[in-house]
Amino acid sequence: MSPSMTEPLPLLDDLASAGRILSRRVADGVATIVVDATGLDAEARARVEEEIRAAAVASPGISEARIALTASKIERTIIAVGSGKGGVGKSTLTANLAVALARSGRKVGLIDADIYGPSQPTLLGSSEKPVARDDKLIPVVAHGLKFLSLGQLVSDGQALAWRGPMATGALTRLLDADWGDAEIILVDLPPGTGDVQLTLLQKARPAGAIVVSTPQDLSLIDARRAVDLFGKLDVPVLGLVENMAGYICPHCGEGSDPFGRGGAEAAARDLGIPFLGRLPLSPAIRSASDAGLPPAAEDGPEGRAFAELAASIVKALDTAAA
Ligand SMILES: Nc1ncnc2c1ncn2[C@@H]1O[C@H](COP(=O)(O)OP(=O)(O)O)[C@@H](O)[C@H]1O
Ligand SMILES: [Mg+2]
Repeated sequence: MSPSMTEPLPLLDDLASAGRILSRRVADGVATIVVDATGLDAEARARVEEEIRAAAVASPGISEARIALTASKIERTIIAVGSGKGGVGKSTLTANLAVALARSGRKVGLIDADIYGPSQPTLLGSSEKPVARDDKLIPVVAHGLKFLSLGQLVSDGQALAWRGPMATGALTRLLDADWGDAEIILVDLPPGTGDVQLTLLQKARPAGAIVVSTPQDLSLIDARRAVDLFGKLDVPVLGLVENMAGYICPHCGEGSDPFGRGGAEAAARDLGIPFLGRLPLSPAIRSASDAGLPPAAEDGPEGRAFAELAASIVKALDTAAA
């Protein structure tokens, strides 16, 4: 509050405590108020502007109010999905979590940054290529979400050899795309701890990371490495997801645990990170994924499992932000 302000503006305090008032100044009876209008449509902006003006001029000593609305603060939550090694179902999980989040009403974006094998165009069943406007890529829409993949930047069948600056440059292009109203962006990272991870973590400052592991010991050791990387770079690890945990026989429906049970929970405990949930090894997940039909888009048992996992991740995000 500027020292020249003689009287408080009581109604504005409510907006200020909601974090919408970026600055306010009063000089010679003229109040100048800068308001964060991020996420508001034209109608809501007009309403907020009018309310603030009315509150300001109703305050003693203020004859005029100048209101500036800005929307510079983009409230976008980036979540990195990582794993220590490939083949643990990281991409499958990222695609289905994104679909589940979109189905729950979120505006979702997905970046496929896996330099070794970008698989999101297949998983999301879209071979459309993004176009660019004003030098910014426009994400492709599929299953109610927006996505961009390194795989879209090369022509079909072209060998992928993303390395070093080429890979990090391409990732930057995906990050700087026109994500519009996307509020949550999931990033499918390559496995391990290389340049792409560092670029993402430094340029995009993710709000959190999810680590995917299968129940085998070896993969859990790899998961530890991913957790360590995020920890070193100050990205809060939202938790560990165990994939291919247990097998549900498609014929008799009976569950079994070929790789044992409880290892991932124990590993999460050891690492001091939350355990977010487990997804069974399910032939239905594999065949639907291969066909570009994410099971999270359906209401079956797999769809429910992904919806539950998405909810626990949203909860973990809220906890991490608190
Ligand atoms: N829960 C699951 N049940 C059955 N198959 C799965 C499951 N999760 C992943 N898969 C399959 O495992 C393979 C590897 O998954 P993918 O998501 O590509 O792994 P990553 O991205 O970690 O390399 C794919 O064929 C995928 O369909
Ligand atoms: Mg993958």
